[in-house]
Amino acid sequence: MDPKIKEVLDKSISLVESSQDPDKTYLEIFGKSGIFTALTAEIKNIEPANRAAFGRGLNSAKSQIEELLKKKKLSTFNSQLSTEFIDITAPGKKQKVGHLHLVSQAIKEIVAIFTKIGFSLQSYPEVDWDWYAFDSLNMPKNHPARDDFETFFVKSEKNPRYGQQVLTPHTSNGQVREMERVKPPIRMLNIARCYRRQIDISHTPMFHQFEGLYIDKNVSIPQLKGTFDFFTTNFFGPKRTTRLRPHHFRFTEPSFEVDVTCGVCQGRGCRLCKSGWLELGGAGMVHPNVLKAGGIDPNKYCGFAFGWGIERTIAMKTELPDIRLFYQNDLRFLEQF
Ligand code: PHE
Repeated sequence: MDPKIKEVLDKSISLVESSQDPDKTYLEIFGKSGIFTALTAEIKNIEPANRAAFGRGLNSAKSQIEELLKKKKLSTFNSQLSTEFIDITAPGKKQKVGHLHLVSQAIKEIVAIFTKIGFSLQSYPEVDWDWYAFDSLNMPKNHPARDDFETFFVKSEKNPRYGQQVLTPHTSNGQVREMERVKPPIRMLNIARCYRRQIDISHTPMFHQFEGLYIDKNVSIPQLKGTFDFFTTNFFGPKRTTRLRPHHFRFTEPSFEVDVTCGVCQGRGCRLCKSGWLELGGAGMVHPNVLKAGGIDPNKYCGFAFGWGIERTIAMKTELPDIRLFYQNDLRFLEQF
């Protein structure tokens, strides 16, 4: 063996043998300024005829040192183990288990309730054309909801028939899409993200709605009221009930605002609700122009539709003071559900 290699090998062996910290010793030998690394650089000064032999010598020295280091590491570890006290009776560390976000939990619950009465869950684009979000719903071009201040418009080429693209401001864009997809009878449930330019204690710019659409022959307002009562008793509990208040939407006639009795005072009136009622969302009998836009003859068929916010519905069940809490990812809040 080349005397230079022999010298470094001997030095390395004694370093390993006296080592307290094998990882540090490894660096002293093989690190950037380690003694073995410096030796490797010597190869360029060796006569070309002897280089191959020098290289072989380096390799064999390297594997000897590495082998020794491995053994040293194991023995250091074992001696540490025998001096350290390990309490094998100590309880293990509990792993945190996550769970569905409360919006996802509510979606599952809502779907289960409506599928019981024949509604089936559908989904439609959340970036959709003006036509489906507004025009087909009997909303004129100058309707305030179409203003930039309410709706997020997407930069896109205008389509001659469908207009511009928007982030869906409500789930009602699914109404005409569903009429195009299937012939009546229709019992559709559409749950999707909606986007509006609003943020305060009862609004977030992204939220969820669930929309129901029922179209058949001779659909009546009592059926609509029955559907809401079914949902309310199943979702909020048997003591709570709904009422319809006249309202106005372009796509339903007549239109209603649906209220649910307050969970705190059960409808008697309290500080939270004042009147005993909390507003759930909009509803009504589908406007004939909307049926026509979906290719359905309004003289043969009629129906009802409703669209409610999921976050608001959960807030009404759990008496949450601020809807923005849903999207702050604060575990202290999320772990409560
Ligand atoms: N789309 C309406 C809203 O977002 C709610 C609604 C849906 C009203 C269906 C009537 C019928 O406010």
